[in-house]
Amino acid sequence: TKRADVVIAIDGPSGVGKSTVAKRLAERLGYRYVDSGALYRAVGWAAQAAGVPFEAGALAEWMTRVSLKLTFAKRHSELWASEVWIDGQCVTSKLQGETVGAAASAVATVPAIRQVITSLLRGVHGQQEDESVAGVVMEGRDIGTDVFPDATVKFFLDASIEARSQRRFQEMQRRGQSVTLSRVMEAVAARDARDRSREVAPLVPSSDAHVIDSTNLTIDVVVERMLSKIRL
Ligand code: DC
Repeated sequence: TKRADVVIAIDGPSGVGKSTVAKRLAERLGYRYVDSGALYRAVGWAAQAAGVPFEAGALAEWMTRVSLKLTFAKRHSELWASEVWIDGQCVTSKLQGETVGAAASAVATVPAIRQVITSLLRGVHGQQEDESVAGVVMEGRDIGTDVFPDATVKFFLDASIEARSQRRFQEMQRRGQSVTLSRVMEAVAARDARDRSREVAPLVPSSDAHVIDSTNLTIDVVVERMLSKIRL
């Protein structure tokens, strides 16, 4: 493996803290960071905005007319983070929240949509803005199993549904949203069920992934554990 070919795959269910961990890891390693979920979110958001019926045939047909793009920018830090463009519009800032998350999870069951996003993600490999960027940390559900089965190092980050719901609940409260813990837990469970049971590229740990259960671990400890596997 050339240094520029390094791919670190981080998969896991929603609310497990993948984004935080993946960004920190990318920062520590000086790699680019790709949030693959943002692409599914962008497509879910745009399909909703365009009034496309959430049905496989209609979504697949609509997808053939959409242009999806991924670029990298340094935002507020030294981190090369991905930005998502749909039909020429940067939508990165519109993609948070459980409504878009649920739309993303729904469009993610459509094979034609997964194909477009998967090939876009594979194209990131080797693409360089800066000579010094030697690799990429990519997070999602199927990075180690489907997008990059030959990734340099794979992680599967897990945590109990209680712990994940609690974290998401606290995050939403901090943002001033009025929610209850049980509603959040219901939403997390529904998304889990859909992501794990879909026919194409379901959420499942790759057999060669390092599985880390973060239920009782701090972010710092998770990141250190990952670094120790990468630097072996
Ligand atoms: O990681 P996230 O919450 O932003 O992802 C939103 C949805 O997108 C998730 O519920 C399922 C889908 N997704 C996927 O199917 N494959 C990926 N690699 C990333 C996300």
